Amino acid sequence: MTDPYAPTPADRFTFGLWTVGNRGRDPFGHETRPELDPVEAVHRLAELGAYGVNFHDDDLVPPGSSPAERDAIVARFRAALDQTGLCVPMATTNLFSHPVFKEGAFTANDPDVRRHAVAKTLDAIDLGLELGAEVYVMWGGREGVEAEAAKDVRAALDRYAEAVNLCCAYVRDQGAALRFALEPKPNEPRGDMLLPTVGHALAFIERLEWPDMVGLNPEFAHETMSGLSFTHAVAQCLWHDKLFHIDLNAQRIGKYDQDFRFGSEGIRDAFYLVQLLEAAAWDGMRHFDAHAYRTEDREGVWDFARGCMRTYLILRDKARRFATDPEIQAALAAAQVDRITEPTSPGGLGAEAVAALRRDRPAPETLVDLAARGLGHERLDQLVTELLLGVR
Ligand code: GCO
Ligand code: MN
Ligand code: MN
Repeated sequence: MTDPYAPTPADRFTFGLWTVGNRGRDPFGHETRPELDPVEAVHRLAELGAYGVNFHDDDLVPPGSSPAERDAIVARFRAALDQTGLCVPMATTNLFSHPVFKEGAFTANDPDVRRHAVAKTLDAIDLGLELGAEVYVMWGGREGVEAEAAKDVRAALDRYAEAVNLCCAYVRDQGAALRFALEPKPNEPRGDMLLPTVGHALAFIERLEWPDMVGLNPEFAHETMSGLSFTHAVAQCLWHDKLFHIDLNAQRIGKYDQDFRFGSEGIRDAFYLVQLLEAAAWDGMRHFDAHAYRTEDREGVWDFARGCMRTYLILRDKARRFATDPEIQAALAAAQVDRITEPTSPGGLGAEAVAALRRDRPAPETLVDLAARGLGHERLDQLVTELLLGVR
């Protein structure tokens, strides 16, 4: 019997080189795993059924490489991609590891640091385009503050917008189709980071020079760190047509940025997220920005990667069962879930329609009935719980 939860490239799963290559270092302890050759990562991911691999500039080309070394590394990596059919749908820049970025990159107070950050990003855009990337993620890892007095946040947002505009201008001048995806995060590594949530980033984009070129790369862990609903954040990105990419992982509220295997925490949230992405027929990459526990050796890393994809597929299957389960469908009907699509004012926004809405409002007796009516949410929610627990 074939495994119904075995991933294939058609599922569009991707991993970062930094995710499967994560060596288990944390603020308290050293690496527990050896370095992973990017070429080996490509082969292993392809064997597991992934679609693609993403990277930061420095993940592939170590900082300080000469142009000849860079070209040799890229050629060897490209050969592995050609051999396996794995794609590079997304690329990004490391603007957080080097100490020069300790006070910010695009929003550092020192203009020299900012110029270096933008130039490094333009180099990394070249590398991404060379390998076929269509989305460019911008995670402002060091854009933020601890000492509040040290940053003029309004001016920093001007500089942030300027940097994104410079990158957009560069891509337009090349005639390339690359789109940018901003990745919000509330804190870590900075005490307070700029563009901390999806909502902040969506509003920021509207003030950019070319807002159509810029969208979101929301991350499960990051909205959850803020105590917000990741599924709602993603739904709003979809509503704005701004879901350009997504970072899937697992996280518990109130903890450090855990970046755990998808579905390992918050399984109900993971279910509703998968249901949303599938219902929206979203055609983007299901990217896992997560890493194996520090306890794992090399093989544990592949158990981790397999687990992320498998859980997504199991939840996708649960979403299909949800859609066909007669009791769940009856409970949805009782909760009038479909009726949210009916306009409040069928006649539109004209004065006549507004007058009709006021005139034809429900009678007081109807309001009494509506207020007294039970909506069956307890039953509906329990049915979902039982679906997820595997007893229906
Ligand atoms: C984090 C971030 C990063 C980014 C990555 C891509 O919290 O460390 O999620 O993993 O996603 O740098 O830009
Ligand atoms: Mn993260
Ligand atoms: Mn991320």
